[in-house]
Amino acid sequence: MSRIFINYRRQDSEGYVGRLYDHLAQHFQRDHLFMDVDDIPPGADFVQVLEEAVAGCDVLIAVIGPAWLTCTDDAGERRLHQWNDFVRIEIASALKHNKLVIPVLVGRARMPSPHDLPDDLHPLCRRNAVELSHQRFSYDVEKLAAAIKSAVPANPSFKRRADSDTLRRKADALKVVRDDLVNATTSPLYSFRVENRHFPVIGDGSPDANIVFIGEAPGKNEAAAGRPFIGPSGQVLDEMLAAIGLKREDVFVTNVLLDFPGKRDPLPEELAFYAPFVDRIIDIIQPAVIATLGGFAMTYILRKLDLPEKRGKIGQLHGKLIKTRLPYGEIHVVPLYHPAVVLYSASQKAILRQDFEKLKLFL
Ligand code: URA
Repeated sequence: MSRIFINYRRQDSEGYVGRLYDHLAQHFQRDHLFMDVDDIPPGADFVQVLEEAVAGCDVLIAVIGPAWLTCTDDAGERRLHQWNDFVRIEIASALKHNKLVIPVLVGRARMPSPHDLPDDLHPLCRRNAVELSHQRFSYDVEKLAAAIKSAVPANPSFKRRADSDTLRRKADALKVVRDDLVNATTSPLYSFRVENRHFPVIGDGSPDANIVFIGEAPGKNEAAAGRPFIGPSGQVLDEMLAAIGLKREDVFVTNVLLDFPGKRDPLPEELAFYAPFVDRIIDIIQPAVIATLGGFAMTYILRKLDLPEKRGKIGQLHGKLIKTRLPYGEIHVVPLYHPAVVLYSASQKAILRQDFEKLKLFL
């Protein structure tokens, strides 16, 4: 996850920075956004503390407003030219350590030219700036967030796009899971499936998705079509995905039961039977995020990963980002309410919508 240091001068751009922070928090975790280094202990070397804070970040955003160059202290000296100016120390340190430094112009400010700046800030003038205009603020910040995400590819929460060989290999491996399931005569739901001429539903979407959604069990329509979430719950899911700019084919959607059990909750022996299939699906796709839909999927994943939250209830855990590791790398589990829960409740729907916003951190 990119850690972003927002460097600004209070007298110059404080009003813009609060708004910028709120918009960036829709894309990046709040605890990865740093604005003020304000707990410098007495006696500490403040230059060192500031340099360390900047060193811990991947990106420094230098917010430049109309008075950025000209702010003076009580003696009328330009602050930016003083050796102990925090704004100068932070930017100079980021430049020295070759961090990604993005000048962000607000309030119609212009990029300064080198002869206006102290020597250690000269390289800033060669960094391409982003302008945040008052009228198009959200649009401009979206562009800034996209630029940050594409410039920090080492981030473990974003997968590099797989090449076509990898995609084919993963798609083939998912077909093998499906074939194994078709022939799984020992499944407690096998005879029910065959009698009703249903299909198993292993899931659909991108075989290399960054986000895998896991629901409860296919319904009758899903079993008839062999595809997950195609009924009313699926419409809610599609609506939530669209609200954060995603389509089904950008993610993978599956369930903890891969056959229709009838109109009832999954039984423990059914969950146990399908668990190895679900695990194989996760191992093939290797998502950075597992978003569980409803209590059954949440409990299954939290127990499988033996997380401290495993006895938690969905009412407490929905919308949380639970960080952990799988053998292939770091992942986040994001428990969400099941779309069926929100079908008849506008307030629950608003909560689900808010929780989906968290997934933007991983796009
Ligand atoms: N509900 C689920 O949990 N899964 C589906 O596939 C459809 C409805």
